[in-house]
Amino acid sequence: MSEPVERVHVALGERAYDVLIAEGLLDRAGALIAPLLHRPRVAIVSDSTVAGHHLPGLVRSLEAEGIASAHLSLPPGEATKCWGQLETVCSWLLDQRIERRDIVIALGGGVIGDLVGFAAAVLRRGVRFVQIPTSLLAQVDSSVGGKTGINTHHGKNLIGAFHQPSLVLADTGVLASLPRRDLLAGYGEVVKYGLLGDAAFFEWLEANGPKLAAGDPAARLRAVTRSVEMKAEIVARDETEQGDRALLNLGHTFCHALEAATGYSGRLLHGEGVAIGCALAFELSARLGLCSQEAPSRVRAHLREMGMKTDLADIPGELPGAEALIGLMAQDKKVLDGKLRFILARDIGAAFVTSDVAPGVLREMLDEALAAV
Ligand code: GLY
Repeated sequence: MSEPVERVHVALGERAYDVLIAEGLLDRAGALIAPLLHRPRVAIVSDSTVAGHHLPGLVRSLEAEGIASAHLSLPPGEATKCWGQLETVCSWLLDQRIERRDIVIALGGGVIGDLVGFAAAVLRRGVRFVQIPTSLLAQVDSSVGGKTGINTHHGKNLIGAFHQPSLVLADTGVLASLPRRDLLAGYGEVVKYGLLGDAAFFEWLEANGPKLAAGDPAARLRAVTRSVEMKAEIVARDETEQGDRALLNLGHTFCHALEAATGYSGRLLHGEGVAIGCALAFELSARLGLCSQEAPSRVRAHLREMGMKTDLADIPGELPGAEALIGLMAQDKKVLDGKLRFILARDIGAAFVTSDVAPGVLREMLDEALAAV
């Protein structure tokens, strides 16, 4: 018997699409993708780790619908989101004679989704693509909303495009193959949704997060679905981040600086940086008198209970000083007229965007956090 499928609609007019969420969805991918095709042929881009786990199942489900596929496998890891691999993907798709009306499938985590989505955005000035996110982070965040791109030595995601997928298939069953560290890193983005706009969801996570981490299928389905609902609603309001969409970057100003400071290495995964960044954003909010001191304490307590990185001291190795970290924050895409913009909070579930942060308070907070390293 098929598992129930959650369907979240991303209401973007002629660029609207559905995110389907269910356990075992990969086995149904062929049937779900078939109605989108003009000819029975797709190109799949993945990484070698994900391909080892999930490519045979995807190919089987496509074949069952008479859909032929070609496959390109890239090295796993953040370093793949670069100019060189963008060229590799584009050249391969052109070699495969992928046309505008064809579908390219991004099978993988956030790195593959962002890179392949960007290749799809620029190939022949835009071909269609389907996201099949295989990490928790990609299921709840990066596969939805059309942000695509690559990193350069200047920073993360500084080269990219908005290019919406035609369909997103989030199979919560594939999360079982994730290493625990990756799962918890993705959980950083799940917590972010509760913190930025849904206090009841955060409360639910406090009660159910440990079950989710232990593999409870119903908890995973609910957490992914609620996260995607929140993202879809914000993206539909503000597709290209002129306003509210910046709320989705709660914790990310700190995170991007920390990722740059750690060289985008295994020292800090993106979702781990988001979790630490959320804790710092709440700490800064409390220091600025915007929220009570209980709020950052509660955020930290939940992250700790989940066994996640919570403070700068949890990042192995040395970190640069506060001034250097603030310098790295200045590369953030939210910088407006040279002014840093932060997502701060009045309470759990009540985030807002502001440029009004006294530099002294920020420096003092980072100095104290770094002193504990
Ligand atoms: N990850 C933030 C956004 O999609 O806007």
